[in-house]
Amino acid sequence: MKVLGIETSCDDTSVALVDETGATLFLETLGQETLHERYGGVVPELASRAHAQILPNLVSKAFQETGTGLSDLSAIAVTRGPGLSGSLLVGVSHAKGLAFSLKTPIVAVHHVVAHLRGAFGDVSDLRGKTLGLVVSGGHTHLYDVTCWPKLKGISKTVDDAAGETFDKGGKLMGLPFPGGPAIERMARENTRPTFPLTKGPIRTEDPLNFSFSGMKTAFSLKLRQALNGQEGMLPPEDLPLWADSLQTAILDHLFSRITKVIESESPETFLLGGGVAINKVLRERMGALCQKKGINLLMAPPRLCGDNALSIALIGLDSIKQGIFTPFPYRDISVQARWDPSL
Ligand code: KG4
Ligand code: ZN
Repeated sequence: MKVLGIETSCDDTSVALVDETGATLFLETLGQETLHERYGGVVPELASRAHAQILPNLVSKAFQETGTGLSDLSAIAVTRGPGLSGSLLVGVSHAKGLAFSLKTPIVAVHHVVAHLRGAFGDVSDLRGKTLGLVVSGGHTHLYDVTCWPKLKGISKTVDDAAGETFDKGGKLMGLPFPGGPAIERMARENTRPTFPLTKGPIRTEDPLNFSFSGMKTAFSLKLRQALNGQEGMLPPEDLPLWADSLQTAILDHLFSRITKVIESESPETFLLGGGVAINKVLRERMGALCQKKGINLLMAPPRLCGDNALSIALIGLDSIKQGIFTPFPYRDISVQARWDPSL
């Protein structure tokens, strides 16, 4: 029994194969950073074309390297949404095409659920009341996941996501895309005290919700001021201070909410996933907080923080074991670019 996982929701083409124990037989993720770098953000049309070029070869590679044939597959799991429509379509169409010949079941996976699935090895790891935070380029969402795989929304960003704020800040500072890794690297070199960023009014009454747009604007205005309204770049020796100040503001805001939620919900287990969860400062702060509160913290390992097909394949395996899948002729399987996982 093997499950094939396919992930193409944004700008990473990823394919994985797991066996019936969940052991990884194959995982390869090809990013498109160099393709989108000069635009300072993901260009949807280019992303979907690149998926269409890369995905068939990556699936063939997975089959060849593991000696797998289509008839060995118990299921094909694929990200259905949310994400970029064109990118999702490539993965879903490919999965359907492969599945059609042998009427293999398909498991349609929610992208955010997959980010949280990357944080634990087995469902038995989820002890007691469990909360899950997804911090990525598109999401900053906190859920009660005690009844996994059901998600109950607790709070979310009312505007931009944490990763988006790293990316925008990086772009303004002239750092390579995506901004998150570049800002983390730069911030590590800082030796000066960071400066605060006005967070701006949070456009919601809910004190647990996140908001990053005010912070993004404050950063941009401050940068313009520092440059005296001129076009140009900060002196290289100032970049670490600016990077550290932005990173600290983003993390402080995240933790102001996380701390409150932990106090009100008293979870026994906390899951952390999503592309931003690879950030070492975030991981250290999360570790310290959960240790202090006696919480069982499960963070996605670095290779599973970003978009990856292994989390998709694992959800496929879980679902097949529970008898939850879409059978041939896959009538219910279509792309869902917007999809609330708590529904
Ligand atoms: O989960 P992901 O790969 O794609 C989405 O679903 O969005 O997350 C990508 C995001 C980007 O915004 C990127 O800047 C951010 O994760 N990221 C980081 C780091 N590495 C990637 N943010 C902060 N620190 C990092 N080291
Ligand atoms: Zn993602």
